[in-house]
Amino acid sequence: MASGKEQFGGKFAYIMALAGSAIGLGNIWRFPFMVGEHGGAAFIIVYILCSLLISLPIFLSEAVIGKKTGKGAYESLRTLAPGTPWKYLGIVTIIACFVIVSFYCVVGGWSIDYLARSVVGKLGPGTREGAGALFGSVAGSIWETLTAHLIFLGLTALIIFLGVQKGIELFSKISIPLLFVMILVVTVYSLRLPGANAGVEYLLHPDFSKIDASSIAAALGQSFFSMSLGVGMVVTYTSYSRNSNIIEAGSWTAIFDTLFAILAGFAVMPAVFAGDLQPEAGPSLVFETLPYVFGQMAAELPVFSRIVTILFFMSILLAALSSSISLLETTVSHLMERKGMKRGKATLLITLGTWGLGVLCALSFGPLKDFHLFGQTIFGFCDLFASNYLMTLGALAFSIFAGWKMDKIEIESIIGKFFRFMLKWIVPLAIMAIFLSNIFL
Ligand code: TRP
Repeated sequence: MASGKEQFGGKFAYIMALAGSAIGLGNIWRFPFMVGEHGGAAFIIVYILCSLLISLPIFLSEAVIGKKTGKGAYESLRTLAPGTPWKYLGIVTIIACFVIVSFYCVVGGWSIDYLARSVVGKLGPGTREGAGALFGSVAGSIWETLTAHLIFLGLTALIIFLGVQKGIELFSKISIPLLFVMILVVTVYSLRLPGANAGVEYLLHPDFSKIDASSIAAALGQSFFSMSLGVGMVVTYTSYSRNSNIIEAGSWTAIFDTLFAILAGFAVMPAVFAGDLQPEAGPSLVFETLPYVFGQMAAELPVFSRIVTILFFMSILLAALSSSISLLETTVSHLMERKGMKRGKATLLITLGTWGLGVLCALSFGPLKDFHLFGQTIFGFCDLFASNYLMTLGALAFSIFAGWKMDKIEIESIIGKFFRFMLKWIVPLAIMAIFLSNIFL
């Protein structure tokens, strides 16, 4: 065991931390929309198959590296393949985490802003235009958005500063069970709204004719993003729990993540249809559409709809926080390992850097909105660059490393013949297919 390295208290902590990283904004604002767009229940089946056959092996490729070395991605690759360029994959993953956490904290900040607003009852006049205008003014107001961003980043940094057991473990063990309870309450409420059936129909109607190459690519991409793969997070978390069974941990992560995504679908879509609105993906879904629907309901059930609104924004906040800590930890632990820094100093340095890039992302909804990189705002560019390209590249490289570079006998003794076969042949081909379809479809 690496000398004196911090560890999770046990298997439960490890799995909750992984589930926390996986469950995030991707589950709440992207998954429900994609399900509806790509054939309802048919897409859910494809998604589950992708998660088990492609994402789970990629998870295992990262986990096996962390289990073997007890280090983060960069140091692991340097140890396992000394003198080769593989260590640069470690650098790519650190950059990816840094970029993702920067823009992720901006959205996390909005969830704090909206949570505070729902507590004091300041979510606007309850009209559609009002909800849109409110989001525009929250995201566009420099002080409001930057203050909320700072608070969210500060919370993330605080948990990381407290360390693996007292920070990440404690937070995940409490917040993940709580998240499931809260989203269940919102789901039950949503399903009881008048007109909710259209939302259920949108999610469940199986339309196999909509399943084609592009919807499979969409399911795969969503599954990668949702399970937080390709950025070395799984390597880092597994290095804190080297004795755990990684197949079991990976399976639970996939199960919790998918279950939460489906529950979120039933929390969000019935409400969207009950409000007679069009489903859409992205920030406007949770920050414009739902506040409007819940606001309308406030007329009939003022107390209850207020509680549900608060629970809803609290779920988004906890889901975002448990993902952002895993991203920050991956970069902070890299500095600690590589430069021998203390946790406090490494956390401070990375937080300052993330704050800088985060401010630029936040301002791209206000004063910097006309500044474009490759046709995108700074926020949009960071999202596209890190979540589409760096993550996919990372996932491809990890699967090739574990499938082709690591010792066959040894890796089969940990993950078995089936998963090694998938890593060697099927996963790389599937990822390349997504890359190509992203470019050409
Ligand atoms: N999985 C998170 C979500 O669904 C977001 C995310 C993407 C992430 N990549 C990550 C989190 C890497 C941690 C590490 O919202």
